[in-house]
Amino acid sequence: MGGKGECMPPCRVETTIALPMSVSSIAVIGAGTMGSGIALTAAQSGIKAFQIDLHQATLDKAKTGHAKSLARLVEKGKMQQADADAALARISYCTDMAQAKGADWAVEAATENVEIKKKLFKAMQSTFGAQCVLATNTSSISITDIASAVGADAHRVIGMHFFNPVPIMKLVEVIKGLATSEETTQRTIALAKAMGKTPVPANDRAGFVSNRVLMPMINEAFHAWMEGVAKPEDIDQIMLLGCNFPMGPLRLADFIGLDVCHDIMMVLHRELGDPKFFPCPLLRQLVQAGRLGDKTGRGVFEYPAK
Ligand code: 3HC
Repeated sequence: MGGKGECMPPCRVETTIALPMSVSSIAVIGAGTMGSGIALTAAQSGIKAFQIDLHQATLDKAKTGHAKSLARLVEKGKMQQADADAALARISYCTDMAQAKGADWAVEAATENVEIKKKLFKAMQSTFGAQCVLATNTSSISITDIASAVGADAHRVIGMHFFNPVPIMKLVEVIKGLATSEETTQRTIALAKAMGKTPVPANDRAGFVSNRVLMPMINEAFHAWMEGVAKPEDIDQIMLLGCNFPMGPLRLADFIGLDVCHDIMMVLHRELGDPKFFPCPLLRQLVQAGRLGDKTGRGVFEYPAK
């Protein structure tokens, strides 16, 4: 191991290696907010997408969302109807991973739980071909730990962290595990670019860069609210107008999901061992009450039913 900051070889975004083969089909495991956004973005980039989820109802919801997003783009004059139809036709909705076995890329976007992810990676390893990259959209879990589920295939496991809403957020955080090969990294960078994203490398430490910095800030906003420093709407207004945030931290927490914020803080706390990462009691309480944000109609704020 090297000195400070050199514990993992950083992946470089700019490279001269002429490796990446183009991706023609991608299996996206999980059809929640992130998975459905990844599948749509791939389809809009001309890549055939298999949207996979155990639950038909989740797939139906994703499909309705895809159709609505594309219709909005057509309405705004940003896309031709024929292109929207073609993008939608590129997405297949499957309850069985085996239906996507010909895919040359797989990205997992399931629940943020390490045991669930390891089980899925074993299934991905036995379903997809030996050249298929096995990516995870985990927001905070160690890539090295997830990769341990697939033994000798760990070299083709990588973190490909997208941001919500996927179709419009430019970043893909690219995270190498200890065994991730340079080829897997370069192919991931190429795919992110082909999907219109900007890949930026981060090392395999809990929360990587994005959530290591974002989540404690959101957690601190809950502390400020709990201590009565300001009302939630004023906390957000202050950050919106004073720091030029597109959304205040509490509105953003609802948007991400309070359960997701809570779970990421727990990973940071467990993995980095610093009490500063412990979730704010008020955040925990709202999660316990089922106030998860936009998806349940109420979190910090209330949202009208869509
Ligand atoms: N899908 C596609 N397009 C969308 C969209 C969606 N879900 N939501 C909004 N848009 C588009 C709108 O159609 C609009 O497009 P237009 O300019 O062409 O008309 C544009 O985005 C702006 O949307 P709105 O005018 O409705 O609203 P805003 O200007 O407030 O923008 C926002 C909405 C883009 C979500 C903006 O508020 C924002 O950037 N918020 C911060 C989002 C953020 O921080 N995301 C990262 C979360 S952390 C994460 O994902 C990591 C995870 O690990 C936790």
